[in-house]
Amino acid sequence: SLIVPSVQELAKQPISKIPPRYVHHDEESPIVSHETSLPAVPVIDVERLLSENSMDSELEKLHLACKDWGFFQVVNHGVSTSLLDCLRNEITDFFKLPFEEKKALWQEPENHEGFGQLFVVSEEQKLDWSDMFYITTLPDKLRKVELFEKLPLKLRDAMEAYSLEVKILAMTLLREMAKVLKIDEEELKGLFSDGVQSMRMNYYPPCPEPEMAIGFNPHSDADALTILFQLNGTPGLQIRKDGRWLPVMPLPDALIVNVGDIIEILSNGLYRSIEHRATVNSDRERLSIATFYSSNLDAEVAPARSLIGPHNPAGFRSIPVEKFIREFFAAKVHGKAHLEFMK
Ligand code: SIN
Ligand code: FE2
Repeated sequence: SLIVPSVQELAKQPISKIPPRYVHHDEESPIVSHETSLPAVPVIDVERLLSENSMDSELEKLHLACKDWGFFQVVNHGVSTSLLDCLRNEITDFFKLPFEEKKALWQEPENHEGFGQLFVVSEEQKLDWSDMFYITTLPDKLRKVELFEKLPLKLRDAMEAYSLEVKILAMTLLREMAKVLKIDEEELKGLFSDGVQSMRMNYYPPCPEPEMAIGFNPHSDADALTILFQLNGTPGLQIRKDGRWLPVMPLPDALIVNVGDIIEILSNGLYRSIEHRATVNSDRERLSIATFYSSNLDAEVAPARSLIGPHNPAGFRSIPVEKFIREFFAAKVHGKAHLEFMK
């Protein structure tokens, strides 16, 4: 990565125009806001999904959400409200730290963990109107201990607790998906029991020219499942659905889940890792934390055996997950181009 300036600091200046590095000419403008009845992403009740007398209707809903949307919200997800409140407070305070203190946590060249922006490879490249803090959280052996130890203690504690709860939620959802995809318990364990997990905290400052900027470029996620906790009520997340950008607004206490590339590959294209982006606005900041859950480090990413047969050829090649993650960071591409490499 190249070292980039803090957008949060930039946005504190009395500017009426954004620097050229943040001006995107190629973005499609957001969908017209006067549309009244926009479709909403499906909502999955995790408690109902797990209850024995649900008659599997919730599982069918989950299946359709993964197939037709690639995005859904979860309620009754098991992550406690008090933990979410605590995490919200800690992350909000974290981004409020003086820049002098944040500098010690800024990305170093050749290392994408820390504050900064991901996938920046040239001085000419357009930048996002946001600061992010990226860190690997699981398995323990992949953690950058030096970086963890520099985090405020209460934030670290909240992240540790959240990391484990989100893993449980991710495993629950993966286990339910596996039922539909006919992936057996052993295969599932071999794929996800000790998955690589990372977190990305995002801060999108108000922007004087919001229609010229983008908070987070269109992309799909390279992981298995992403679980997003939006920390405040500012809209911004949009998904590409049937050729247009559709806003997603989290319900109170809900988490937003999306299918990543690994599940698109595992499901042989049945479940979809769709493009999404974050827009910015002129008067309100927006904060979020995305948790990425990927396969075990020694797993092979490939279409599930149960889905492949004489009439169902594999749509993707198979690749060790370690290599897949490395290629993803090396490719530094937007949109879904990296999945194309897998076909
Ligand atoms: C966000 O909605 O702030 C983040 C979206 C993403 O993680 O892609
Ligand atoms: Fe994403």
